[in-house]
Amino acid sequence: MLTNQEHIFSEKIDTSVENGEFIKLIISNKRHKTSELNKIIISPVEIKKGFRLSFLYNYKTQDITKNYELEESQSLIFNELKENFLNAELFTANEIIRLFFSAKNNKPKIKISEPTFKPVVNLNHDRKKHKRVELKNNIWLKELGITTSEDVIKKDMHDKYRQINKYLEVIENMIIKKTSEKKLRIYDAGSGKGYLTFALYDYLKNNLKIEAHITGIEFRQELVDKCNMISEKAEFENLNFVQGTIIDSKINEVDVFIALHACDTATDEAIYKGIKANAQFIVAAPCCQKQIRKQMNVTNAMASLMKHGILKERQAVILTDGLRALILEANGYKTKVFEFISTEHTPKNIMIVAEKTNKKFNKDEINKNINEIKQMFGIESHYLEKLLNEQRFQI
Ligand SMILES: C[S@@+](CC[C@H](N)C(=O)[O-])C[C@H]1O[C@@H](n2cnc3c(N)ncnc32)[C@H](O)[C@@H]1O
Repeated sequence: MLTNQEHIFSEKIDTSVENGEFIKLIISNKRHKTSELNKIIISPVEIKKGFRLSFLYNYKTQDITKNYELEESQSLIFNELKENFLNAELFTANEIIRLFFSAKNNKPKIKISEPTFKPVVNLNHDRKKHKRVELKNNIWLKELGITTSEDVIKKDMHDKYRQINKYLEVIENMIIKKTSEKKLRIYDAGSGKGYLTFALYDYLKNNLKIEAHITGIEFRQELVDKCNMISEKAEFENLNFVQGTIIDSKINEVDVFIALHACDTATDEAIYKGIKANAQFIVAAPCCQKQIRKQMNVTNAMASLMKHGILKERQAVILTDGLRALILEANGYKTKVFEFISTEHTPKNIMIVAEKTNKKFNKDEINKNINEIKQMFGIESHYLEKLLNEQRFQI
């Protein structure tokens, strides 16, 4: 358990790495004067496997270097401070943060001062380029509880921040780079607390200079009210949130229809709306695929696999989302299904991106394929297919 001071230091490490502002960290001032290890110098490195912190252990007679991931580095740093050293100094592009322990009572203290030097072009610079959300003076990040009043990412919000950046990267690569539109009309169905909606609006408007008009649809009134309040505070004039269900919402002209982690069949409702509104792009990150699982009735050789609950659950996810992709193809969309963000951050990690295409496609062939798959797994109907067949709901 970290003390308050240690906690601040740990957050400073995380944030400086996230922002590409980490220059080096030196652990020094031995607790045991006879120890062979003099100090540890930690610097950022980019290796094949990705970003790491490189620990240079400076012994009396030799130096040893080892690379660690950020999370492991954090625990190693605090372990070294507990067992072997009294002092740690973190040099970032903006400040120097010193954490030191009293030799008398072992109480930690923190001191923050101006930086003595700025980084030259280095790998930190490259990392910074990949962060699409600015932390400084960011109203919506603060209001949504991702950053503190000092513009530092909160300890338990690093995964969320990473997810936001990854999401923007995906949208930029799979949608923005493929369209020449300078104005995009977007719906975000099941916008929830709005993390990804705010991020997208901010990034499109302020970084990519695209005129974005985004409407979040959400049935929880308190979330709608809060998001509208934050949007007003951030002066995001073309970002608004409306209360309602996805299926009953009135959709005006739309370029991109998004549904991220909208529960179970809400994803089908969103895809249906996107298809009917003739959206150029439909983006869905589905979750809790229950509808198909309840119907699955496997009588062929696959039954011996489906008797295991976990395998049946995973198969239901594959079938639900695979069929969604095929149904989109049968409606003139080119689809991609891929991992949105690795399972270490969230288990809800599949994304479907569909783009309307003018290319010829064989609808009958795709539908035949869909029917064969359904038969193989004893599925009577996929909810998205049902919505499209019945055409009961307005656009
Ligand atoms: C798990 S949250 C995801 C929020 C956000 N899209 C994200 O990925 O961070 C799902 C949200 O969708 C809303 N929702 C689920 N089904 C809905 C429906 N049929 N119509 C409108 N909102 C819905 C829920 O109230 C909830 O806030």
